[in-house]
Amino acid sequence: MDKRQIKEKYAFWGTQPVAQFSEAGGEAPEGPIDVPKTVAEVRQEPYTLPDSFEWCVCDLRDDAVAHEVYELLSNNYVEDDDNMFRFNYSSGFLKWCLLCPGHTLDWLVGVRVKASRRLVGFISAIPAHIRVGGGPGAGAEGGPAGGREVRMVEINFLCVHKKLRSKRLAPVLIKEITRRVNLRDIWQAAYTAGVLLPKPLATCRYFHRSLNPRKLIDVGFSRLAPRMTMARTIKLYKLPDEPLTPGMREARPEDAPKLVPLLNDYLARYRLTQVFNEEEVAHWFQNIDNVVQAFVVEDPAAPGSLTDLVSFYALPSSILGHPEHTELRAAYLYYTVPGATPLKQLVNDAMIMAASKGYDVFNALDLLQNELFLKDLKFGAGDGQLHYYLYNWRLAGNASLTPQEVGLVLM
Ligand SMILES: CC(C)(COP(=O)(O)OP(=O)(O)OC[C@H]1O[C@@H](n2cnc3c(N)ncnc32)[C@H](O)[C@@H]1OP(=O)(O)O)[C@@H](O)C(=O)NCCC(=O)NCCS
Repeated sequence: MDKRQIKEKYAFWGTQPVAQFSEAGGEAPEGPIDVPKTVAEVRQEPYTLPDSFEWCVCDLRDDAVAHEVYELLSNNYVEDDDNMFRFNYSSGFLKWCLLCPGHTLDWLVGVRVKASRRLVGFISAIPAHIRVGGGPGAGAEGGPAGGREVRMVEINFLCVHKKLRSKRLAPVLIKEITRRVNLRDIWQAAYTAGVLLPKPLATCRYFHRSLNPRKLIDVGFSRLAPRMTMARTIKLYKLPDEPLTPGMREARPEDAPKLVPLLNDYLARYRLTQVFNEEEVAHWFQNIDNVVQAFVVEDPAAPGSLTDLVSFYALPSSILGHPEHTELRAAYLYYTVPGATPLKQLVNDAMIMAASKGYDVFNALDLLQNELFLKDLKFGAGDGQLHYYLYNWRLAGNASLTPQEVGLVLM
């Protein structure tokens, strides 16, 4: 951890049940940080917003509301350090991601201006079974890591309108969603952020693989390498038209019963991961154009037997202020389970699919076993870091994890 990035004082996060930078690891036991509470003890009234604002539930089943959330995020959500790109999650993506199995509308929290009804803030939670902890050294190569399965929520899409920044609205949104989650007897959360907060459980790095190098260079996402011409660069990143693995096909809802053990058994070796049930697998590993793609390998010698899984999701970015291009189409590697097929080949096939669907770049984190293919498949390290956090949970001795011990991919 770069000590210079750590702020002197976290006025909000310093008061929350999260691992703190100042804490000595030592004897801290694994488990909740706060004294356990009951639902009856949870504050009944919503937190107070400044006078001109009010809370709302963003029911994304309503297309008009989904569009409002989309608009808020597309104009105000995460940008890169140089403000050249801004995430542009589609409303189809938001519906897929936030109306997942077990979702609770009350956890799609909006803030509106009372007078105009304009949506100016948002935060979301979705339920997940997270397994955390377990033996050190289990890691990517070992057997099951063990650890504890905890009912948590995944917090995402925290956003405050640009005109209302630095007014301490974010802590109110975070406290309010925590209250609403606690009211349903859930006391832990997992979340990721590019910013450094107290205190990451793990820090991963983004890697990028060009699919459409000409456009990426045009828009300033990447640069022509020294002594390289555009023609040679295009040739370097050229991919075949069709996947190479025999028996690879799109996942279908009826694959879920077979995919559950395939996925969970594989993820068992990681020290921070999600445990999926059938309904969740059918939901997260489906094929929706411009949202998510999931592919399985059905053994040609044993029809019906599924050996591998590879998936990616679509997260375009708006290109800010470019005369010609307005959108960067990025595919993000989601979960991959190599069974009979080498990992590298599965990811290469996923990239082939992404390229054939017109994506410009293929992104992956250095978690799971991804380090095994990044170099060979021509990924380059990005400058973005992604910190993983848990709310109200610490590992024994306040330990942290290496990227290779992380088996959790959030959107
Ligand atoms: C993130 C965002 C909501 C914070 O709002 P803000 O107006 O900048 O900050 P506020 O004055 O309301 O609150 C500041 C507090 O929020 C914390 N904070 C900032 N970004 C945060 C994040 N991504 N997650 C959690 N807390 C965050 C700050 O650390 C600070 O707490 P501290 O005093 O303990 O350090 C806002 O900057 C935003 O919408 N940014 C673009 C979208 C984005 O980055 N979303 C988060 C994706 S992980």
